[in-house]
Amino acid sequence: MIEPRAAEPVRLLKADAFGRIELMRLDGKLVIRRDIGAARWWLRGLARLAAAREAKALRRLDRIEGLPCLLAWDGRHLFRSHVPGLPMQQGRPVDPDYYRQALRLLARVHAAGVVHNDLAKEPNWLVQPDGVPGLVDFQLASVRPDRGAAFRRMAREDIRHLLKHKRTYCPEALSARQRQILATPAWYSRLWRMTVKRLYKLVARRLFGYWDNEGKGRVRD
Ligand SMILES: Nc1ncnc2c1ncn2[C@@H]1O[C@H](COP(=O)(O)OP(=O)(O)O)[C@@H](O)[C@H]1O
Ligand SMILES: [Mg+2]
Repeated sequence: MIEPRAAEPVRLLKADAFGRIELMRLDGKLVIRRDIGAARWWLRGLARLAAAREAKALRRLDRIEGLPCLLAWDGRHLFRSHVPGLPMQQGRPVDPDYYRQALRLLARVHAAGVVHNDLAKEPNWLVQPDGVPGLVDFQLASVRPDRGAAFRRMAREDIRHLLKHKRTYCPEALSARQRQILATPAWYSRLWRMTVKRLYKLVARRLFGYWDNEGKGRVRD
């Protein structure tokens, strides 16, 4: 266990209505703190549920190379270890090896009974200094030790989202099987795209004049 109060802020990584993500230093090591207390009051309950989900998933994924370790979760602050590297939109992984290793990493996550569920977002993928993939942000993850039919569908969606990034950065390395996975999204993803997402984009453009994840890396659809 760590002593979270001893952590010193280094840099703010992200702040939105769901709270703040900060890079901090603790006992000479870099750690990441998610602060639910900084969320808008009316979203705090939801933000706490999401952080609790992340804690549950990270507990099951302990010590997998390329993933953060859970250091502490007290209902307000969630601390995880820092994974060095750049988010995908900056690291721009063009080497097919990155995707081979990322698929292996996902296979280990799935074998532990966890699906990530938020892999369309580039900032959730990291490119470590040696070019090896890292994965963060398990707020939407599901833990299903039984790995039933619903789990397998979600696991396939995780893989399909990774392949979309591969299609962006090194399309020539996609295999025929991978192209086939890309061409067949799950029914609920198609439904989502046709309904809620279309409406959300329209509202976001009209009201705020943007739809692009605030320029912080694309979300591929
Ligand atoms: N353990 C970590 N190591 C390195 N960078 C991280 C780590 N956790 C988060 N980050 C960086 O901070 C960003 C925001 O964290 P994330 O958990 O994705 O928050 P959110 O759920 O608000 O998207 C990530 O996209 C990533 O670039
Ligand atoms: Mg994220």
